[in-house]
Amino acid sequence: MYELNITKSIKWNIADHISALITGSRNSGKTFFLLSLIAMLATLPQKQNSLLGTSMIPTQIFAIDLKNSDIARLEQLLPVNRVAHTKNDALKILERFVNLMKQRLDFIQNETPFGSTAKSLGMPAFYLIIDEWSATSAVFNDAVTKEEKVQKFKWFNLMHELMMLNRQALFGVIIATQQATVVNSGLSTAIQEEVGLKVHMGNATSEAYRLTFGNDLKVPNERLDVGEGMLWLEGINYDWAIPFAAPYIDTKNFWRILEKALIYQDNLKYLKLCAK
Ligand SMILES: Nc1ncnc2c1ncn2[C@@H]1O[C@H](COP(=O)(O)OP(=O)(O)O)[C@@H](O)[C@H]1O
Ligand SMILES: [Mg+2]
Repeated sequence: MYELNITKSIKWNIADHISALITGSRNSGKTFFLLSLIAMLATLPQKQNSLLGTSMIPTQIFAIDLKNSDIARLEQLLPVNRVAHTKNDALKILERFVNLMKQRLDFIQNETPFGSTAKSLGMPAFYLIIDEWSATSAVFNDAVTKEEKVQKFKWFNLMHELMMLNRQALFGVIIATQQATVVNSGLSTAIQEEVGLKVHMGNATSEAYRLTFGNDLKVPNERLDVGEGMLWLEGINYDWAIPFAAPYIDTKNFWRILEKALIYQDNLKYLKLCAK
């Protein structure tokens, strides 16, 4: 139900490994990969050999894109208050997202049988997509006035709270960023350790790979093109990163695909829906 076919042979079960990190230099294909993940997530469960699934448990998509890349355009397709491209809106969206997560956790705890989880109830997932995480963090880190300092505090605290509580609620985060660890990037080790899927797009130095995957994972020596990358999935590959190609995106018709994928977006309707 919760499996995403990243390729024919690589399946990401979001209910087991809820959050993901995508790294890679500029123009390596991070944003495009995010867009195909969004199309797949929003139409879960998936069908064989097709980007779009049957949409019985449509993942609810929220997005933050302060660099105004293609992710920000989703504003045209998503309900209001789902996409942010300014600092103030980014904080509002994160607050709203964490709030919805708490409402769902309350609901599961108080109104469903003992031992239930969002996964066991067959609830749709909620995802917050943050493109250009380092740039976003920099905007919050650059705090001079008192108000800016309050915003910074809120942003990093809420991120932390989200990463700690999200699994049970099926509230995921996908972070895309050029480098996994930059001084003050705000990508705390807590976030690094919580993600169960790590992807590095495009060619990279061994140092860049090490920042993404840590010291223990070996990376095969292969030349990669735009839209190709190396991947690690918790519990799947222990020793070696796996080379893979992201779904090919034909820009001529992809917007129409996204339009179709994002029909079923509604906080109220899907927050408490139990498909099982
Ligand atoms: N999966 C893909 N299919 C087709 N073209 C791609 C794909 N990934 C990247 N590209 C091409 O590379 C360009 C840069 O990709 P993008 O995702 O914007 O990179 P990044 O977000 O890493 O800077 C895109 O505008 C597109 O032309
Ligand atoms: Mg990008």
